[in-house]
Amino acid sequence: MKTALITGANKSIGFETAKVLLKNGYYVYLGSRDLQRGQQAVDTLKAEGLTAVEVLQIDVADEQSVQQAKENLSQKTQSLDVLINNAGILGSYDQKASDVSLATVREVYDTNFFGVIQVTQAFLPLVQKSDQGVIVNVTSGLGSLTLHSDPNWKHYHV
Ligand SMILES: NC(=O)c1ccc[n+]([C@@H]2O[C@H](COP(=O)([O-])OP(=O)(O)OC[C@H]3O[C@@H](n4cnc5c(N)ncnc54)[C@H](OP(=O)(O)O)[C@@H]3O)[C@@H](O)[C@H]2O)c1
Repeated sequence: MKTALITGANKSIGFETAKVLLKNGYYVYLGSRDLQRGQQAVDTLKAEGLTAVEVLQIDVADEQSVQQAKENLSQKTQSLDVLINNAGILGSYDQKASDVSLATVREVYDTNFFGVIQVTQAFLPLVQKSDQGVIVNVTSGLGSLTLHSDPNWKHYHV
């Protein structure tokens, strides 16, 4: 059975992605920074008959949490077929570069940027043990330099 880890999968896009992968025969490690919220999501999926799923506690912005999650997952599986870096935050949207607080910028970078790097580095050895390992980075138009450089883009002035 193929395996997948999705970060921030206790709700929204991550949760729906878990559902799709489960319906396609994957065993899903449902990443959640809060164990209780993650377990609730797992219970919801199981109630729908999607049983090949368990919660993996992981806060992508917390180095210790990422390392602990890596150790926990390594004890459960020899390889990881799909890693989906889904967890992400907007910060206090919308905000201007001219007055956004540095604390907000740091929080967003710790999650959306450094979080992706540290999660990828932590799980890469497991992905490399898969015959067809895949890493998916979920992003947004808000991360596009091309769009941000286009004065006609609806968020250009945000
Ligand atoms: N929704 C959109 O229109 C849209 C458009 C383009 C791209 N995206 C991208 O899609 C991804 C998911 O977005 P979404 O709309 O589903 O967002 P969402 O509803 O806000 O859900 C975000 C998920 O990430 C988790 N998360 C946040 N910080 C985390 C951290 N430090 N460690 C682990 N998990 C963390 C949240 O956990 P908690 O429940 O604990 O907060 C939640 O499970 C993001 O990367 C986002 O940039 C979304």
